[in-house]
Amino acid sequence: MNVLVAGGAGYIGSHMVRELARDGHRVTVLDNLSSGHRWAVPGDVTFVEGPIEDSSAVTELLLREQIEAVAHFAGRIQVAESVRDPRLYYLGNTVATVRLLEAVLDAKVSRFVFSSTAAVYGTPETVPIPEEHPKAPVNPYGHTKWMIEQVLAEYARAYPLQYVALRYFNAAGADLAGDLGEDHHPESHLIPIVLDAALGRRDGVQVFGDDYPTEDGTCVRDYVHVSDLASAHVRALDYLGEGGASGAYNLGTGRGHSVREVIRAAEAVTGRTIPVTMAPRRTGDAARLVARVDRAKRDLGWVAERSSIDTILADAWRFHSGSRAR
Ligand code: UFG
Repeated sequence: MNVLVAGGAGYIGSHMVRELARDGHRVTVLDNLSSGHRWAVPGDVTFVEGPIEDSSAVTELLLREQIEAVAHFAGRIQVAESVRDPRLYYLGNTVATVRLLEAVLDAKVSRFVFSSTAAVYGTPETVPIPEEHPKAPVNPYGHTKWMIEQVLAEYARAYPLQYVALRYFNAAGADLAGDLGEDHHPESHLIPIVLDAALGRRDGVQVFGDDYPTEDGTCVRDYVHVSDLASAHVRALDYLGEGGASGAYNLGTGRGHSVREVIRAAEAVTGRTIPVTMAPRRTGDAARLVARVDRAKRDLGWVAERSSIDTILADAWRFHSGSRAR
């Protein structure tokens, strides 16, 4: 299959590129390198540096490369930034994706897989969270992703387009080979911060709140390995190719780990002591976010396989302590 990966130089997109290449697909990457890395895309993959929102240029690219499916990972991902400067998100996520979809429709590409997020649910009423849970995002980041899901649902009703939206819980980990992993600047995610602290690259980890209604008082999250996320995308493309109906799927494990548990597990995996200080709650954090995962299993035949917290941490550690990550 000829696949365009928009945002293929980013954290999750680059793992998808690797997974597709391993499966023998022909991959083209479109990325403006605003947060991705050129080194994350293999030399034998067609790489186009440019914006996803230039509809006519992207239409030409889709036609030239005879693209049959688009996997769209490009976008902004920081919740706090989205609150501080929301227009970056409405332009960079919502408007840019609508423009990308212009190209997809004009080039008559009929399969589209979209990176969505658990942030579409907002503060959950029930945990584990099923896909039909009310969508009530509590920040612009989550709003922009939910808006795109709604655009996709309406486009799929009106046009010859089928889509799968994949709602990631907490993406984490790194490719087994150790040369591809999470490298955001600035970094806000727990696991890379914990590993940086283990390496002495920062003084320690601040735990944002220990008075939540959870077992140890710290927030519980459903960590899912980035390689499992990549394989879910490949399955989603296959599912659409087999005529599967459009829809949205949670990607998680159905199990949660508290911040303290993650830090303890990281100390065990790295063999190092990680200094911890307590800090106030971070605005917008829900106490517990854990996915219900049976829908992805039923329709896509997908379950997370590398997503035990120890495997996630061991793989992330291999990347983090290697030469690539800074
Ligand atoms: N945390 C700390 N200290 C840190 C960093 C994080 O205690 O230095 C805590 C957070 O407060 C949270 C947990 O670790 O309780 C996980 O935080 P992350 O920032 O790693 O991840 P989030 O759960 O905030 O965010 C993830 C995705 C977002 C998505 C969100 C859904 O990264 O893209 O889930 O709500 F929007």
